[in-house]
Amino acid sequence: MKIVSVVGARPQFVKLAPIAHAAAAAGVKHVIVHTGQHYDAMLSDVFFEDLGIPAPDVHLGVGSGSHGVQTGSMLAALDAVFDEHQPDWVLVYGDTNSTVAAALSAVKLHFPVAHLEAGLRSFNRRMPEEHNRVLTDHAADLLLAPTQVAVDHLAHEGLAERTILVGDVMTDVLFDVRDGLAGAPSVLVEELGLEPEGFYVATIHRAENTDDPERLRAVVEGLAGLDRPVILLAHPRVVAKAAAHGIDLTQGSLHAHAPLAYPDLIAAVQASAGVVTDSGGLQKEAFLLRVPCTTVRTETEWVETIELGWNVLADTAAEIAAGVSRPRPADTDETPYGDGHAAERVIEALTAG
Ligand code: UD1
Repeated sequence: MKIVSVVGARPQFVKLAPIAHAAAAAGVKHVIVHTGQHYDAMLSDVFFEDLGIPAPDVHLGVGSGSHGVQTGSMLAALDAVFDEHQPDWVLVYGDTNSTVAAALSAVKLHFPVAHLEAGLRSFNRRMPEEHNRVLTDHAADLLLAPTQVAVDHLAHEGLAERTILVGDVMTDVLFDVRDGLAGAPSVLVEELGLEPEGFYVATIHRAENTDDPERLRAVVEGLAGLDRPVILLAHPRVVAKAAAHGIDLTQGSLHAHAPLAYPDLIAAVQASAGVVTDSGGLQKEAFLLRVPCTTVRTETEWVETIELGWNVLADTAAEIAAGVSRPRPADTDETPYGDGHAAERVIEALTAG
């Protein structure tokens, strides 16, 4: 049994960690292919080091480009990789250009494809991630859904027979890292001399918020006007777009900071008064750590966080300000994202039969 995992962007390295560990524990041969979509050390190497992921067996080094150029470079390179490795399963993760490229290359070569984090939908057809999810789900042979809501979306699209509910592997890795931290102080809090619970953690990177200068300016001004320091863990995309349009990412309450390694991010979120983000993963991490989240988008795939009160959507500066100052949500014992053992179920599903 040989599984080839294809990853390329930061959230995929987080999801890869528990899969790599579960594959090793089960004695399954696991080949890791890194497309090179993310190449900055703080978006890539640091995750392999901190989360104990073996170094990639293959690195395609595709780098940045328009969607077509980036996805096409991956497609061109992956055919030879799959041909060489002859995988029993190609495992693809989430919703990036690396996901759809690997799924497409593998199905064309008749290698079975499993999609981890299948069935998420924003129903916003302008999001690149939404195209990537829909296309990947319909190409894949096995759909590994993180939540019941995702299972229901797949059933609605006629894909029920290929679907299994495994839980969310991000819960696995988050619980491990949180327990490993055991309340250790946050590096960010110490470095910046912040008051615990006296600041917000922010991330903004989605095309919808960064690519139109007027939109980016409005989001930045909204964050700058908040009532406590806002530490913006600035993705290279937002840094590049802000520089191109002369928008200062350090102004008012807003302080730009380099992205953090995963354990430092978790410690920072735990120490914060709240999270303001457009990241999918961070919405869930905030919920799992029971830190209130305000999501700078018009919709979210992670509707459970909203229904349980731990997340609110905010479009305008006024909505962001209202989101961060809302009363603390009611405690909940609900576990919509599984029990922290999703990766074991994924490996069981791939090795069954
Ligand atoms: C990608 C994913 C998104 C995911 C995000 C997590 C797609 C379509 N989008 O968005 O779903 O939430 O990763 O971070 O796949 N850049 C660097 N260094 C890097 C990587 C990127 O400087 O290591 C810069 C480049 O200028 C690049 C830009 O960031 O053009 C955008 O990178 P790209 O990979 O296209 O998308 P992300 O915004 O990272």
